[in-house]
Amino acid sequence: MEKKLAAVALLTIIVVAFIPLYWMGEPARQASAAARFKTESMARGAALFSQSCAFCHGATGQGLVGPALRATKMDDKALVKTVERGRPGTAMLPWGDDDGGPLKANDIQDLATFILNWDDSLLEARSVASSTQAAAPAVVATSGPAASAAPRPTSVAIAATTTPTPSSLPASPQSGDTPSTAGKQLFSSLGCAACHGANGEGTALAPALAGLAGKQVPLASGQTVVADDAYLTESITAPDAAIVKGYQGGMMPRVNLTDIQTGQLVAFMKSLK
Ligand code: HEC
Ligand code: HEC
Repeated sequence: MEKKLAAVALLTIIVVAFIPLYWMGEPARQASAAARFKTESMARGAALFSQSCAFCHGATGQGLVGPALRATKMDDKALVKTVERGRPGTAMLPWGDDDGGPLKANDIQDLATFILNWDDSLLEARSVASSTQAAAPAVVATSGPAASAAPRPTSVAIAATTTPTPSSLPASPQSGDTPSTAGKQLFSSLGCAACHGANGEGTALAPALAGLAGKQVPLASGQTVVADDAYLTESITAPDAAIVKGYQGGMMPRVNLTDIQTGQLVAFMKSLK
């Protein structure tokens, strides 16, 4: 009997002591759940950024054909709205599904959370690596679509195998390089590969370039053109002069290149079978 009483008393003490302790711990638990939620949201946002935004805004958000997004002054609301609706008349298309884009509201919130709490370590290792070798030489790639806005000096890092002076363009990094291998380098460093595929095989965003040279290309206008050197050149220097049937104009950014670099890109595209 005494034993039983003692047990009840002990139980009461435990319960009475435990309840306040439990409730005292609750804010901490809530805080850690919120922190976990934020971490997960940032990781998803970072993955989306590398996938969908990096080729225009730079692998680490440093800015490329689109403005820098790391350390943006925009707030959460403005970011979400811009990404959802895009900027009409620029390469910044609407991404929200309400506006015909591919992203859902929670995807865009994840992107905004990531952008506001920028953390390079969450980005795909590959794309970060390619942008942190941001040594000279650089091609100044002032954007076409956004050129009307204040000029944003952006530079595209080119994998430098030699140490040329900053003013020298990466036309032929090595004497043994053919125009086509130099073109291949440009193709990946300028972000062409992000839309057209690493080997020009095409993606959901942009048509295949492999095997294109010499072929007939049906255009959105209903005309057909032959993909000769002049057409390939114009596709780079004036992307909206001729829109390929089934694709949207205004999407391919125009990059300022020297004639030599354009020629190297054309040579590379012609080498793609
Ligand atoms: C095809 C190129 C391209 C892609 C892809 C792209 N953007 Fe943009 N973005 C731009 C351009 C160009 C601008 C500048 C538009 C202007 O002139 O106002 C811009 C502007 C922005 C702005 C406004 C920045 C500011 O300071 O005014 C935000 C935010 C933004 N983009 C986020 C994103 C996100 C997030 C993604 C990925 C889902 C993305 N963008 C994908 C080209 C792109
Ligand atoms: C933001 C995505 C994007 C990027 C980056 C991009 N392109 Fe394009 N490109 C497109 C789209 C979309 C089309 C089809 C619409 C059109 O004809 O403008 C296209 C069309 C082309 C064509 C014509 C293809 C055909 O079938 O006739 C060529 C050539 C081309 N791009 C080369 C390049 C090169 C070289 C680069 C890099 C300097 C590049 N693109 C960067 C999206 C892109």
